[in-house]
Amino acid sequence: MSDAAFNPEIEVADVAETAVEPDSLRDVRPVPRITIQAFCETQGVAGPIERMAEDRRMVKAQARVYMGGLGAAVEFYQSAPTPNLIILETTLVPDELMNGLGALAEVCDPSTHVVIIGHHNDVSLYRDLKRNGISEYLVAPVSIADIMTIITTLFTDPEAEPLGRTLAFMGAKGGVGSSTIAHNVAWSIATLFESGVVVADMDLPFGTANINFDQDPAQGIAEAVFSTDRIDEVYLDRLLATCAEHLSLLAAPSMLDKVYDFDAEAFTQLVDVAQRSAPAVVLDIPHVWNGWTRRTLETADEVVIVATPELANLRNAKNMVDTLKKLRPNDFAPKLVINQVGVPKRPEISVSDFLDSLDMDAAAVIPFDPQLFGTASNNGRMLAESDSASPIVATLSDLAHIVTGRGVVATKSKGGLKGILSKLKK
Ligand SMILES: Nc1ncnc2c1ncn2[C@@H]1O[C@H](COP(=O)(O)OP(=O)(O)O)[C@@H](O)[C@H]1O
Ligand SMILES: [Mg+2]
Repeated sequence: MSDAAFNPEIEVADVAETAVEPDSLRDVRPVPRITIQAFCETQGVAGPIERMAEDRRMVKAQARVYMGGLGAAVEFYQSAPTPNLIILETTLVPDELMNGLGALAEVCDPSTHVVIIGHHNDVSLYRDLKRNGISEYLVAPVSIADIMTIITTLFTDPEAEPLGRTLAFMGAKGGVGSSTIAHNVAWSIATLFESGVVVADMDLPFGTANINFDQDPAQGIAEAVFSTDRIDEVYLDRLLATCAEHLSLLAAPSMLDKVYDFDAEAFTQLVDVAQRSAPAVVLDIPHVWNGWTRRTLETADEVVIVATPELANLRNAKNMVDTLKKLRPNDFAPKLVINQVGVPKRPEISVSDFLDSLDMDAAAVIPFDPQLFGTASNNGRMLAESDSASPIVATLSDLAHIVTGRGVVATKSKGGLKGILSKLKK
C-alpha cells in the first residue's frame, strides 16, 4: 500500500479504485487508437473518467474531460470534429435529454459512439436511447471499471466488427501518384478529424512512404508479414513509426536484398490486426496484379483507383473497375481519382471523355503541379505542410471526407445518433 492509504485527506473510494485493479479489468485488452471526449456535469463522474484516462490500457487512446454536459458538447462540436466516443453526463430529465440529443445529432458524425451517464434510473428512457442509436446508458455513480468495460465492449470485442475501415489505394499504372495521394489523404484524415490512422506501405521493394514522411524506422511491414503467427496489436505497435499526431506508418524496407513473393493471404492477418488498432487503415498497394494485391482490394472497405488521363490508364482503370465490381458485388464501386491533369505538351484524354468512357464520376481531379509535389517530396513533407493554401490541398481534404464518409452528416440519413434527429422531426 502506498502512503496515500494513510493520508486521511484522500477519500477511501479513491484509494480503493486506483490501488487495486478491479477483477473486471484484469482481462481487458488495451484500448485501440481511439479518441474519447467526455462532457460532464459533476466531479463525481468527471473524476473516474479522468482516472481512467491514465490507465495503462489507455496509452494509445486519447481521452479528454470537459465540464458543461450536453450544452457544452453541442457548442463544442459546431466547430470541432466528433471523436470515436463521446461520453455525456447529464442531469436533464428524460424529455429535455431527448430534445438536447437532437441538437447533438446535427453536429455528430454517424460513426461516433455516444454513451450517456444519467442520474435517472428509468428503464423506458434506457430503451428509448438505445433505440435511437445511443450506445449505452449508465446511471451515476460510475466506477472506472464500469466505463472501461463499456469502452472495451464497444471497441475491442473480438466478436464485434473491427474498429477500423481499410482504404486501399492503387494506381491504374505505375507512377501516377497513387502512393502520394494515399499518404496525403491519410495525413488529412489524421489532421482534420483528429482520428487515428495507420498507413501500410505494401510496396516492399520500392515503397516511398518512408521518403514522403521523412521516416527511417528499423522495422516495419516486412517484419509483420514475415511473422504472421506473431502478429497481434502489441507486436504491431512495436513496428509502427509515428509520423504525426494520430498518424503511424508501417514502412516498407525499400531494399532489394530479398525478393517478395507472397501468397494470396499473406497480408490478411496484418490488415485485420491493424483494423482493430486504429479507426482508419490506409493501404498503399503497388501497381501489380497478383494473388495478394487482388485479395487486398477485394476485402478493403473502400478502394481508390488513381489514374492519369491517358489511354493505357483508361483501359487499365476500366478493367480494374469491372473486375472489382465482380469481386465485390455488394459494395460501392471503387472511387476514381484523376491525377496529373494538364502536363504541358502532353496529348491527354479530356476529363469528361475519360469519365464518360468509364461511366463514373471522379472523387477528385488533381492538376499536374510538379513544383508543389516535387518540393513536398524532396523535403519529406506533406503537400499541406508545403503549401497549405494550394487548391490541391483542399481537394485532398475533400477526398479525405469522401473516403471516410465524413462530413455528410447533414445530407445522409444513416443509423447511429442521426436516427434521433429524424425521429424527433417526425
Ligand atoms: N499531381 C501531380 N503533379 C505533379 N507531380 C505529381 C503529381 N502526383 C504525383 N506526382 C509525382 O509523381 C511521382 C510518382 O508518384 P507516386 O505517388 O510514387 O506514384 P505511384 O504510387 O502511382 O507509383 C512522384 O514524384 C510524385 O511526387
Ligand atoms: Mg506507389
